Amino acid sequence: MSEKIYMGIDLGTSRSALVSNNGVEKVTLSVVGWPKDLIARQMLKQNLLFGRDALKHRLSLNVVYPLEKGVIKENEQEKTMAQELIKHLISAVEPPSGAKVYGIIGVPAKASVLNKQVVADIAKTVMDYAAVISEPFAVAYYAGRLDNAMIIDVGAGTVDICRMHGTVPEEEDQITLYKGGDYIDKVFYDTLKSTYSTANFTLNMVREIKERHSFVHNVTRSVSQPSSRLTASRECLT
Ligand SMILES: Nc1ncnc2c1ncn2[C@@H]1O[C@H](COP(=O)(O)OP(=O)(O)OP(=O)(O)O)[C@@H](O)[C@H]1O
Ligand SMILES: [Mg+2]
Repeated sequence: MSEKIYMGIDLGTSRSALVSNNGVEKVTLSVVGWPKDLIARQMLKQNLLFGRDALKHRLSLNVVYPLEKGVIKENEQEKTMAQELIKHLISAVEPPSGAKVYGIIGVPAKASVLNKQVVADIAKTVMDYAAVISEPFAVAYYAGRLDNAMIIDVGAGTVDICRMHGTVPEEEDQITLYKGGDYIDKVFYDTLKSTYSTANFTLNMVREIKERHSFVHNVTRSVSQPSSRLTASRECLT
């Protein structure tokens, strides 16, 4: 009988993650790039770059973030790149040849039927069996809190608040606020720009500063003062 590989995928606006039953865990920034021209292609020696690699070489690439506000953007290019992102995550698992790949992909409880279908269609092209499930349900199931619980997911595109009442949550069980981490990055960026108009920095740099130094606490220390507590970062991210 052929081997079975089970995997779960969280496609996020900012980061996407995969875990599999053979012990693979992978997190990548949800960004895909491809060479702008032949020269870039020859220099990079790759047709597609993902995550930090794509950002590092962004000047030689066409770069897209295939997700927005928690769901895949509804145009062909982004759909294709979302598919490539899923393939890239799966490639980390290295399923043995002939193995059957079973996958579960999380989508926001509020994702439209159309969007769930888009995710399912993409997943079916790269997996043998694919199921699309509501993200808050996956969290509640894992935590064993399917009833009388509230799941709050602070994301980059959205903040999702979902009530659990002993069933799979539906659209009316979830409230989505469309101001997540990306919104904070934008406000941070605009504020810095208006204060230091001649300084050179990008939205990605601002996000990295936020992620390295921010937390909810009463402090008066400047971020320029090093402290191990303030510099907890995500080294594992690719
Ligand atoms: N230390 C930190 N302080 C503040 N924000 C942080 C920190 N670390 C990560 N973030 C931010 O948390 C947000 C959520 O990240 P996450 O990876 O959960 O988003 P996502 O799942 O990709 O987004 P979505 O669920 O909306 O599709 C991002 O905007 C990220 O910049
Ligand atoms: Mg998320």
